[in-house]
Amino acid sequence: MNDYLLPIADGLPARDSGEWVKEKLFYVKRYIDVFEVAMRGKNWRRRIFIDLFSGPGKCVIRDTNEHLLGSPLISLQTQYPFTDYYFGDLDQANIDTLQQRAANCAVSQANIHFLVGDANSKVNDVIADIRRFDKQYISGILPCLNLAFLDPEGLELEWETVAQLAKMNRMDLIIHYSQNGLTRNLDKCYATEKDTIVDKFFGDRKWRDVYKTALNRRESIGIHRALIDYYKSKLSDLGYVVIKDSDEIAREPLIRNTQKNAPLYRLIFASKHPLGNN
Ligand SMILES: C[S@@+](CC[C@H](N)C(=O)[O-])C[C@H]1O[C@@H](n2cnc3c(N)ncnc32)[C@H](O)[C@@H]1O
Repeated sequence: MNDYLLPIADGLPARDSGEWVKEKLFYVKRYIDVFEVAMRGKNWRRRIFIDLFSGPGKCVIRDTNEHLLGSPLISLQTQYPFTDYYFGDLDQANIDTLQQRAANCAVSQANIHFLVGDANSKVNDVIADIRRFDKQYISGILPCLNLAFLDPEGLELEWETVAQLAKMNRMDLIIHYSQNGLTRNLDKCYATEKDTIVDKFFGDRKWRDVYKTALNRRESIGIHRALIDYYKSKLSDLGYVVIKDSDEIAREPLIRNTQKNAPLYRLIFASKHPLGNN
């Protein structure tokens, strides 16, 4: 196999990462694998993977120079690939690099779409395509089956983007919840009446009440528990099944900085189908 598709240096840029990225990629690969195996037998018109914060396709662990496949190259090389892919990034150079790598994979190039720009506006291009594919009723053929991985660096993912994706018939979501990004911004954003990055992340201002109540309880762990539960209640309002597992690490794995043991982010998995819980 070509170096571009292997977890090794290939002369192209890779995303500088900490050791903890391995844990994130483990969960993403696992979700994709289970999703594909469970779903591929049905008559979906298309099975679509959407990665609106895709990066260049590979990561490099800064301390060890170990190279890893990032989410786009993992999704392109699974046992049962999706039929269509949408990869987006704000940075043109990342998309150019990813395109060069993806050109070597077995998936038809016509079915891999690249988008440069803010995920919160580019999502509309993806939605327009899915709507077009789903528009016509075809007897015996199910609508598109979609999985979106939303993996920003901090708080760049706006709630409205999640809500747009959620309007599609079948759209599983893996959402990067930036615990670290919120911790750094909550006080500052709470203190202003203006619309803030945190208001955009939660899609409204009710997080302020949730935050205030949790703060009054004076338990730092409880703040994120309360905010994640609030975020998940909004997903539930959009028709998503809320995972009931009593083990919170199993529900929303917490990725920590492996050197400082500091919490970085959580992954929230959301499906409209009860099977997603598995
Ligand atoms: C955490 S990285 C993604 C890593 C990737 N999922 C992987 O597994 O290799 C986040 C990416 O989002 C991009 N980004 C940041 N803000 C963005 C925005 N508003 N819209 C789209 N992409 C953005 C960054 O350039 C970066 O490549």
